[in-house]
Amino acid sequence: MNILEINNLVKDFGGLRAVDTLSLSIEEGEILGMIGPNGAGKSTAFNCIAGVYAPTKGDVYFTGKKINGVRPWNLCKNGLARTFQIVKPFRSKSVLYNVMVGSFVTTDKTAVAEEKALNVLKILSFENKKDERAGNLTIAELKRLEVARALATEPKLLLFDEVMAGLRPAEVDEMVQIIKNLRDQGITIFVIEHIMRAIMALSDRIVVIHFGKKIAEGSPQEVASDENVIKAYLGDEYVVS
Ligand SMILES: Nc1ncnc2c1ncn2[C@@H]1O[C@H](COP(=O)(O)OP(=O)(O)OP(=O)(O)O)[C@@H](O)[C@H]1O
Ligand SMILES: [Mg+2]
Repeated sequence: MNILEINNLVKDFGGLRAVDTLSLSIEEGEILGMIGPNGAGKSTAFNCIAGVYAPTKGDVYFTGKKINGVRPWNLCKNGLARTFQIVKPFRSKSVLYNVMVGSFVTTDKTAVAEEKALNVLKILSFENKKDERAGNLTIAELKRLEVARALATEPKLLLFDEVMAGLRPAEVDEMVQIIKNLRDQGITIFVIEHIMRAIMALSDRIVVIHFGKKIAEGSPQEVASDENVIKAYLGDEYVVS
């Protein structure tokens, strides 16, 4: 079953068409990657899916139900969570507090929220930082917190917007493993990432967008050897390894 389906999605900002008749679908249990140049419309597409923006045109279906215009909070309650490219934790609060904000999507009991948050921190090998102030975290830790916060909402579908940007190679490898583990636990993943090594290792399938339009779709190997993708994004020096 397709957990997510987008049909002819359009998002205009005034005269700028940021997403242009984009259609795609994700099967339950799949990891779908999305790549494309800066400004291609990737985050905007995510924002239309996650309810931050209502699409200008087109439809978004989640678990078979049309979700155009449904607010992020309600989507989150129904199992659609996302991370933000620009992380914005409550910097003066602890890691645990920040993750509990996510847990409160599925419970209104503080003790339950705390237990769920602690469980998420354990899954992400992050319990040792539970009492640290978010404002003191490194970039890699902030990204992990962003994943934790989203995971605490107990999603069926998780959208990751560049959770590996700014990480060192070893930290990228760790995040790839974390995301694979989440999928193995039954969460479907849609991931935007510029780090090719990571997106190639992670994705079952990749869609490539350019000026808001899909220009290629296929296995990592297929898109990496696609002439249009090389021209628009990867550059001639990119060699499939
Ligand atoms: N809120 C907004 N108002 C006006 N224009 C916007 C807004 N958000 C995005 N845009 C524009 O829409 C286009 C697509 O932006 P978007 O952030 O979706 O790109 P992206 O593919 O995520 O890029 P990057 O890889 O740099 O994150 C860009 O031209 C951007 O300037
Ligand atoms: Mg973006």
